[in-house]
Amino acid sequence: MATSRVIGLDIGSSSVRAAELEFGSGGPTGKTAPTLVRFGSVPLPLGAVRDGEVTQGEIVSSALRQLWSQAKFESKDVNIGVGNQRVVVRELDLPWMPLAQLKASLPFQVSESLPMSTDDALLDYFPTGEYQGQNGRTVNGMLVAAQRDTVTANVLAVESAGLRPRMVDLNAFALVRSLARGDLARSTVAFVDIGASITTVVVTAQGAPRLVRSLPQGGQHVTNAVASVAGVTLPEAEAIKREVGIGYSVSADRAEAAEAVSNVVRTLVEAIRNTFVYYSSNNPGAPLELVVLTGGGAHLAGLGQYLSSASRLQVTLGDPLAGLRSAKTVSREALVGHEAFIALPVGLAYGVAA
Ligand SMILES: Nc1ncnc2c1ncn2[C@@H]1O[C@H](COP(=O)(O)OP(=O)(O)OP(=O)(O)O)[C@@H](O)[C@H]1O
Ligand SMILES: [Mg+2]
Repeated sequence: MATSRVIGLDIGSSSVRAAELEFGSGGPTGKTAPTLVRFGSVPLPLGAVRDGEVTQGEIVSSALRQLWSQAKFESKDVNIGVGNQRVVVRELDLPWMPLAQLKASLPFQVSESLPMSTDDALLDYFPTGEYQGQNGRTVNGMLVAAQRDTVTANVLAVESAGLRPRMVDLNAFALVRSLARGDLARSTVAFVDIGASITTVVVTAQGAPRLVRSLPQGGQHVTNAVASVAGVTLPEAEAIKREVGIGYSVSADRAEAAEAVSNVVRTLVEAIRNTFVYYSSNNPGAPLELVVLTGGGAHLAGLGQYLSSASRLQVTLGDPLAGLRSAKTVSREALVGHEAFIALPVGLAYGVAA
């Protein structure tokens, strides 16, 4: 049986992480569940990646080299992700055409409606369905438009680590591929990845992405706020943040820090909730049923309950391992507790089998 292996690489602001999947003969959409062959991560110093964009290429490249030698990935081919506020993602209906032709026609179809010149943009289109419209057969889908220079620095850092980027994918879509299985693929679900500096919200209906938002907030903003009110270093503030969480009673000497945490988290949760409200008001017939959290920020104690009461929705943690088998090279026990970080690289690996 022909198998193929693909590595998904997530360049986050706090770590680089990669996951290698092996697919059976049917590829990513085949009948057999893919096997997780390897997973690894290497932390990055603050500031090497800002808002999803590599700003210190040398540091990121050396972290990637370290990751490759540490986790012993055999291939150098990787799928990487993008997703920040400079990537525009929206629903777009277009007259039906074969997909390749449709993608080729994008610069002409969308030039007037984009906040950037199509010369500077990487454009892609993900069909989610089709219907018979007033002007005939129509495709319904999501347009992705990324400023070219948003991606360039990341591609360069990957290449100078000796790796070959095969595909640039939208982080939001990768999350969906990794997590929208079983019941989650049959309902209306919001996947929310709370990273260090970016929170990605993607609403899916029956497994198809319908709304993607990138919010410029994450766990690092909470830590920064604690550091500034408590007058402590960032590593100290990080520890205090994890200790106080949100919604718990704290000792008097932690009151200020707890208030700083809750102020930043309140703003973030409000922005997430507004995204849900926006979706619901545009789709009154299909209300959101569940919220699935990933990303390190989701580990903040009490955050799930807080988001649940603010949104009046059930909130659970995403489990990217549910749909995967694992090879002898990875210890399943060692991955438990790291699910929040594995979802994105796994989803990027699902992109396309090399
Ligand atoms: N136990 C914990 N309690 C609270 N916060 C935590 C915990 N573990 C991790 N975090 C927070 O998670 C954040 C990092 O999350 P993650 O690793 O998903 O981000 P990233 O992918 O590197 O960044 P981004 O996606 O924003 O580029 C940090 O701000 C960190 O403080
Ligand atoms: Mg991230």
